[in-house]
Amino acid sequence: MSQTHRIAPSILSADFSRLGEEVKNVVAAGADWIHFDVMDNHYVPNLTFGPMICSALKPHARTADGNVVPIDVHLMVQPVDALAQAFAEAGADYISFHPDASAHVHRSVQAIKASGCKAGLVFNPAASMDVLDWMIDDIDLILIMSVNPGFGGQGFIDSALRKIEQARQRIDACGKDIRLEVDGGIKPDNIARVAAAGADTFVAGSAIFSKPDYKGVIESMRRALKG
Ligand code: DX5
Ligand code: ZN
Repeated sequence: MSQTHRIAPSILSADFSRLGEEVKNVVAAGADWIHFDVMDNHYVPNLTFGPMICSALKPHARTADGNVVPIDVHLMVQPVDALAQAFAEAGADYISFHPDASAHVHRSVQAIKASGCKAGLVFNPAASMDVLDWMIDDIDLILIMSVNPGFGGQGFIDSALRKIEQARQRIDACGKDIRLEVDGGIKPDNIARVAAAGADTFVAGSAIFSKPDYKGVIESMRRALKG
């Protein structure tokens, strides 16, 4: 299991009137990835941003010494393929989608990887992970939703812990270096429990962007992860 823990702030909870500054600030505060919650008001009851925002923000996703901070695009859209391609061209590093939003999951994953991005599958709180029986060898990321997709600031759904454990067992059994990311309701006071279940990458939106000191929140999450 990857011992490296990654904090992936979701810009869904950032100040949309200053997104470039927000990305720069959260990168300077120690963010490992930048999580883009893309919503189409069809697959989920909310509408956020498209590939042009990704292109605009890409230059800001760099550390002070010039290292790229990966852009982790979470597509809550249906259909998937055209937008996935557009985000790949806009500079996404990871592109994950909900299997029930694609008519041909294997083909959608193939297309994401052919575009040069890493591919992930996202599982809603009530969704089965059976598709992993056929897909786990083709993906780079599993994203477990610990809230129902569509909005930030929701409460963590505890049954996600069992799903994270099952996903971790699947990853360890297949022996591939697959990221196990969790999205929704992650806070400094529950992140250790989520890591103990087997997660290695943590999306946090309102926990970070609702506070003035992004660095302080990220550091408190890292302290909690260190136990
Ligand atoms: C739901 C979104 C949220 C967001 C995280 O569709 O994906 O889970 O990223 O929001 P918080 O951290 O505020 O729960
Ligand atoms: Zn997300």
